[in-house]
Amino acid sequence: MSAGTASDKSARVTPAHIRAMKGERPIVSLTAYTTPMARLIDRHCDVVLVGDSVGMVLHGLPDTLGVSLEMMCLHGAAVARGLERALLVVDMPFGSYEEGPAHAFRNAARIMAETGAGAVKLEGGRQMAETIAFLVARGIPVMAHVGLTPQSVHVFGGYRVQGRGADRARVLDDARAVAEAGAFAVVLEKLPASLADEITAAVEIPTIGIGASAGCDGQILVTEDMLGLFTDFRPKFVRRFAELGAAAEAAIAEYAEEVRARRFPGPEHVYADTPQEAGR
Ligand code: KIV
Repeated sequence: MSAGTASDKSARVTPAHIRAMKGERPIVSLTAYTTPMARLIDRHCDVVLVGDSVGMVLHGLPDTLGVSLEMMCLHGAAVARGLERALLVVDMPFGSYEEGPAHAFRNAARIMAETGAGAVKLEGGRQMAETIAFLVARGIPVMAHVGLTPQSVHVFGGYRVQGRGADRARVLDDARAVAEAGAFAVVLEKLPASLADEITAAVEIPTIGIGASAGCDGQILVTEDMLGLFTDFRPKFVRRFAELGAAAEAAIAEYAEEVRARRFPGPEHVYADTPQEAGR
């Protein structure tokens, strides 16, 4: 299957394309929450995830637990308007899928209908396998997410590395369970690199790493993290490819200074009495 990958500018990437990229070439993924960011990302990435990280990054929430289905639908629809090629995946927020497969289906179907997403992502391993199988059997492609699953922060007691020592077998089993249940890809978050490599070799679906291993089948980062726009904290796995937060603050400070000194707006930014006077 060749259509729809980052080098093919015409076709829309599908979950089947992503599944087929395992062992072929690395899958490039980023998050987006808005139309303009989606437009910037679209031609460079295979997958664009509307992550529930939107709650912390854009809405100032302390964790992802307060993110609602409405927020995911609103941001998902905004991102969809900015995409022509990449696969749009929308996160299922905390409380929208854990109760059982039928509940999960209702909410996943709403996300798909209101956003035009090609797939949903949900957190959890073996305990979510039945739900993943239920969704996939009813037409909803699922990206799974194991290892550090931030919606379980209170159970984990913090955002710790998962799968160390005796916990290794649990995470490996989770990855196997979601792959067998029919997920088309699985995000591996904050694991020892050797475990991420073991999972990548053990499962038939692509692994997408975040704080995992360069050996994963793909990588994902939160865009605002890698651009230096979200600076509240910085996990070890984040590489800043730009410092846009600092650049934005410098521009804002300059604007404030110019307004206070009455140097902005200049003559070129104001309107004349008639269009002829100023050429427009
Ligand atoms: O919510 C999110 O942005 C995510 C990615 C970090 C994988 O789940």
